[in-house]
Order: sequence, then C-alpha cells, then structure tokens
Amino acid sequence: MPVYLDYNATTPVAPPVLEKMSPYWARYFANPASPHLLGKEAQDAVDQARQTIANLMGTTPQELVFTSGATEALNLAIQGVALAYESTPRRHILISATEHKAVLDPALSLAQRGWEVEVLPVTPSGLVEPDVLRRAIRPTTLLVAIMLANNETGIIQPIRELIPIVREAGAFFLCDTTQAAGKIPLSFQELDIDLAVLSAHKFYGPKGIGLLYVRRRSPRVSLRPLLLGGGHERGLRSGTLPVPLIVGMAAALEYALQDLPQTLASLSAKTTLLWERIQQVSPSARLNGADAPRLPNTLSVIFPGVLARELLARMPLVAVATGSACTSAKPEPSHVLLAMGLSPEQARATLRFSVGRPTTLEEIERAQHYLAQALAELKLAHR
Ligand SMILES: Cc1ncc(COP(=O)(O)O)c(C=O)c1O
Repeated sequence: MPVYLDYNATTPVAPPVLEKMSPYWARYFANPASPHLLGKEAQDAVDQARQTIANLMGTTPQELVFTSGATEALNLAIQGVALAYESTPRRHILISATEHKAVLDPALSLAQRGWEVEVLPVTPSGLVEPDVLRRAIRPTTLLVAIMLANNETGIIQPIRELIPIVREAGAFFLCDTTQAAGKIPLSFQELDIDLAVLSAHKFYGPKGIGLLYVRRRSPRVSLRPLLLGGGHERGLRSGTLPVPLIVGMAAALEYALQDLPQTLASLSAKTTLLWERIQQVSPSARLNGADAPRLPNTLSVIFPGVLARELLARMPLVAVATGSACTSAKPEPSHVLLAMGLSPEQARATLRFSVGRPTTLEEIERAQHYLAQALAELKLAHR
C-alpha cells in the first residue's frame, strides 16, 4: 500500500467537492455565456461560486479572474501588469529568489524584453529581509513578487512587514498564495495585497482551475489580457468558463477552510510526529528553514551524504518529492535550496514530505519503516 506524503504537489478531490461538481458535467452543462435559460442556470452556478470564493478570501467577486491554475494566473499577473504599464517610467520588477518557476520564468522573459528584473536574495532561513527589500526598491519599481509560503520548504515570508515598503514606493505587490490557501488563515483584503493567486488542486479541488485576484480599488491594478477571444472574465481571460471546475473550486475552498484551526493543529501534530520518526531512523537528518515560520504540513529534510533521488528509488511505496514536483523533470538541484545557501550536494540530499488532511498515524509509521529500509539498503550499496 503506497503512502502519499506529497500534498504540496497535489491533493485528491474531497468527496463533498466531487459531489457538488457532479450535476455540472452532464445535467447543467450549458455554456454560461449563452443567453438561453440553460445558459442562465450555468451562469448562476458560476456567480454563486465566485461569490462564495470572494466571501472566503475577503474580496469582491469582480476582483476574481478564473484561470486554468496558478501558473496561468501568475503569468497573467506578471506579464499582464508589465504590458499595461509598458509606456510608463516604471520598468523595474523585483522577485524573491525562492519564487516558484511560474513567477521566475515570466519575469525572466520580461527581462529579455527590456524590463529590469532584479532577484531579491533570502537569508539562510529562506526569508526576504525587509531591509533588503527597502534597499532594492526604487521609484521606478512597478511590481514586487514575494510568495506567502514556499512549496518546497513551507517557509512563510514576513509579508506583513514587506507590504508597507511596497506601498510606500507606489509599486504593486504580487503574492503567490498557492501553497498557503487551506493551510493557514488567508484574506487578500486584510493582507492589503494587489495581486494573488490560487490553484484548486492544492486544497482538495479539481486540477485545471485557479484564479487571479486583481485589486480594483485604491490602488486599482490595470492588466492587459494574455488570452484574447470572447472577452470572458471582463476581457481579462477569454475562453468558455469550465462550470464544474469553478463550482468545484468554491466547494473545495469551503471544505479546506471549515474548521481551519483544528485542521492546522492536526496537520502540525502529524508533521511533528513524522519529523520525530524521521529523526529516529536518520539522527543526522536536518530540517531546512528549521528556525523560520513554516506551513504546518511541510518538512524539507536533508539526509546528509545521501542522494535523495537514490533514496526515492529505494522506497517506491512512499510518495514524496525531491525539489519541487513542478520542476522535478529537470535534474538540477533546487534553486530554492541553493538560494538559502545550501551546497548542491545538500540540495540533492533533500526530500520534501508534505502531509494532508487524510494522512493517518499508521501511514506515518509505514513511511518510517520504508525510509529505514531504504536508508539501510543505500548504506549497504555504498559500502
Ligand atoms: C507556490 C506555487 N506556485 C505556483 C504553482 C503552480 O500551480 P499550478 O501547477 O496549479 O499551476 C505551484 C504548484 O506547485 C506552487 O506550489
């Protein structure tokens, strides 16, 4: 029986979410943009889902743009803002060194097209220091992108201290909140951010649906669309709306946020237990970002002297990640860990464990057993 400890890569769709989605595949299947009664029923479902998400995230429905996921939402935020303000003197963009590739790559693509893109370093604990941001920001800075929680390490950035610096400089703040949603309390309005993203499959919703939050009031953020066509989503993202996925995303957010304090405590307890068990079988194991605030479900663990790839190959029944799942097709050591000052060897010796709501104590014990076995096998193989 495999043990799934890779909830930061993706989560299963929760049964109540599946149930809420089910009438919208074949019964209420009409195009919400169609003017007939069936279209209106589909549009009502979209409106209701948008309102539910807006209520849960502390926004208005008009500030939400549905996309295919966080990757598209981040591309729309970065490239869309850059294009909208192209002819202004603000051509400087700041991003933190530990951003997801879906932020780094669009920003690098802008750099190739003449924008000035600067990467903010992080401390060995993975944090962007307010003073570092203060020194780097300029009157010409258009956009600052700093994630709330990192997918590989779970490290939570001090964004409450960083936002006022961005505000004062008159720049926009883009926060990648993909990993934070459903794991820690999160309200876009309360955080006073300008742009933020979600991806439903990270919080027990379906894959293929996400959103971009675009602030509409003081300051209003202008965006140029990347996808042109029928003018859906107030012209910001054309394409027929996937009604079952949108309904599923709203249901998943409700599911993930109900009893959040209890969920947080339960995730923390499972993570603490898992860490104890890992240390029992590998006393030299070290935790990346140990002294930083972290998500309650994530452990980024260095197994000194071990190649994480080889360790993974010897425990096929444990689903964990080396580096970020989204980029693990590439064998390079994780840019996130290198940015924190780890050597390439330490980065290659790191595994990410992420627990979820369904994780059981029995699974943690089984993972410990498989890990012990794999470490022993590796030791023998390298004698
Ligand atoms: C922090 C972060 N941002 C963005 C993404 C991209 O999300 P998606 O693959 O759903 O587009 C991920 C996915 O792993 C992520 O963890």
